[in-house]
This record gives sequence, C-alpha cells and structure tokens, in this order.
Amino acid sequence: MGKDVIIACDFSSAEATFEFLDKFTEEKPFVKIGMELYYAEGPAIVKEIKKRGHKIFLDLKLHDIPNTVKKSMSVLSRLDVDMTNLHAAGTIDMMKAAVEGLTREDGTRPLLIAVTQLTSTSEERMQNELLINASINDTIVKYANNAKEAGLDGVVCSPLEAGMVKDSCGKSFMTVTPGVRFADGDVGDQVRVTTPEKAKEIGSDYIVVGRPITASDDPVAAYRRCVKEFVD
Ligand code: C5P
Repeated sequence: MGKDVIIACDFSSAEATFEFLDKFTEEKPFVKIGMELYYAEGPAIVKEIKKRGHKIFLDLKLHDIPNTVKKSMSVLSRLDVDMTNLHAAGTIDMMKAAVEGLTREDGTRPLLIAVTQLTSTSEERMQNELLINASINDTIVKYANNAKEAGLDGVVCSPLEAGMVKDSCGKSFMTVTPGVRFADGDVGDQVRVTTPEKAKEIGSDYIVVGRPITASDDPVAAYRRCVKEFVD
C-alpha cells in the first residue's frame, strides 16, 4: 500500500474540474470526487477523469439497508474507481453486503473505507442527539473495529485519530485523513488540522487535501509540496 496525496476536487461542475486538472501536465494526481460533483455531473465525470489516467476516490458515503447498499456498490464497482466509502453506522451486516456488492467477478474490488463519526459531529451532540453513551474516541475505535470485522480496508478519520485506530486495528488497516494544512497556511473551517509532514509521522496512509491545493495561486506547486512533505 503506497502512501499518496488525494486532491479533494470539490468543484460544482465538470468544466471547473477540468480547468483545474488541466494545470497538471506532468503528474496525474489521485483525486477525490464527492457528492457535490457526482450529483451535478453523474457517472460521466468519473469515467472522464478515469480516462484521463487519474486514480479516483469516490466519496459518496453510502448508508442504507444492506441489500440496497450491496446493489449500489455493485453499480459503483463498474465505474472502476480505486476507492469508495460508506458509513460504519450502517452496521457490520451492511458493510459486509457492501464488500460483496463491490467485489467484481474476477475477485478484485476498489478499496473500501468507512466513515466512523464525521468530524463535524461533536461528542456532546453524539451523546445528546444520537444517544450514544460512549466517548467519541471509543465510538470511533469501535466503528473502526466493526469495519475491520466486515472486511473493509480502513477508515476515514482525522489525522489526530489515525494513531489510535492503528493501535487498535493494526498497522495495515488504512487511515485516510482530511484536515490537512500547511504549517504556514490558512486553516479555513477545519478545526483539528495537521500538516502533511505530521500526518506522515502519525501513520496516515493517504491524506485528502482540498483548498490548500485547489485555492492556491499555484496548485501544481502546492500539490508537489504536499507530496514532498508526505510521501518523499
Ligand atoms: O478543503 P479541505 O482540505 O478542507 O477539504 C477536505 C476534504 O475532505 C473535503 O472534501 C471534505 O468534505 C472532506 N472531509 C473532511 N473531513 C471529514 C471527511 C471528509 O474534511 N471528516
């Protein structure tokens, strides 16, 4: 499993996405396509970005009954993405069904990772609104273990949670971590952030970086800086 930088392509149209990707003439970055772009442009955007030679993390966070998730994952696997995800809150049964649906006839499948608790969910809201009477860290570690038991490859989490997930689930259980900022950069609306260098130290396998690259005056240079700090 290679460490890599994934660029969050949080654009609202294919046009804006390609205008951005066209800047990369020497490298083909791994890109994340989220709900906004997918719902705006549909599967065509995935196929086009794939055709251009990029690896794709399709971030649609599925959460439904096992049968529906299984069938939807089987449709997504035909898009030939490299990584996709779901909510661990859907239970181990749902996650197992997802793995089944995602697995192609030849036994291969995209990497499948789980969202444990969204980083926008505070411990207080989790306890008061969702009636989960555990600490948020215990919940994250439990959900990560559920994902592992279901046969998933890893979880999406804050880089600051990656260490405890690795400690509990093992080194080879992947952590994909957003919330990355350069030491001298803008934090924006992210609260718990870390630098690419620090994420590497903590043991993240992939970092997901959006605005520090997409909103930079020189996105290619910003991407290269991430790769240099995190991968090299
Ligand atoms: O622009 P920025 O670097 O903050 O983008 C981070 C990306 O990672 C966004 O696409 C955001 O939705 C996603 N993400 C996140 N925190 C999570 C899960 C996903 O920031 N817990």
